[in-house]
Amino acid sequence: MSHSATDSSQRRQRPVIAIDGPAGAGKSTIAAHLARRFGLLNLETGAMYRALALKAIENDRDFDQEPELLELAAHTTITLEPQREGNRVLLDGQDVSRRLRDADVTAAASRVSVHPRVRAWMVARQQALGASGGVVMEGRDIGTVVFPDAEIKIFLDADPEVRGNRRFKQAAPQNPANERITEAAVIAEMKERDQRDRNRAESPLRPAEDAIILDSTAMTLEEVLARSEEIVLAHLGAVTGAASGKSVESQIG
Ligand code: DC
Repeated sequence: MSHSATDSSQRRQRPVIAIDGPAGAGKSTIAAHLARRFGLLNLETGAMYRALALKAIENDRDFDQEPELLELAAHTTITLEPQREGNRVLLDGQDVSRRLRDADVTAAASRVSVHPRVRAWMVARQQALGASGGVVMEGRDIGTVVFPDAEIKIFLDADPEVRGNRRFKQAAPQNPANERITEAAVIAEMKERDQRDRNRAESPLRPAEDAIILDSTAMTLEEVLARSEEIVLAHLGAVTGAASGKSVESQIG
């Protein structure tokens, strides 16, 4: 490694909060909440993989061919615009935020994200986005690869049945086409995606050694939000120290 972890965290004025975990664990909700609460930018890195996957679909590229995807990436601009409830995503200037949630894009993103050089392309951009800190970055490898020196790392997990059930309930009212999709199918698809994310050779989904693991299986949303806020406040309190006389909140916003 050419740079030490300490170097880049010392250059930052404001913290990076890394939120990792499997699909449907509630990462986006927690990340959006923490961003609002502490005045940080919320960046959804999954949206970047989804955007490249959409471009591959539109250009009829093979998701399993890394060189084709890299060539495509070289001619692609992906912009994340943090909003109150998540990211608006522009693909080559076009708002594709809604399209990125479709099942074909979801499945393709999981395949696109196994390729090491595609990941390196994404990671370089994500590191640039978070370089000056002040971000909550959500994904699968933020605490392990993108910002191994993140000040706060939360790994959000939950049993696959619970995650699948939450996703099913979330998606059903928004999209009438989902009426035909069963809960069992959502859970099966989620397990398949988990398998691929956890078992890929490059940057598999796993908690960083210094991540705080939050298992939300038996927790309400309010409990998870409160616990994640506590984690951030505890970190800030530890950094600030009682002696500085500054409020904890003023250290981050
Ligand atoms: O978080 P999401 O469901 O939008 O992610 C879409 C896909 O991208 C998912 O299959 C895992 C992958 N991904 C990844 O490999 N690394 C990240 N940092 C974020 C997402």
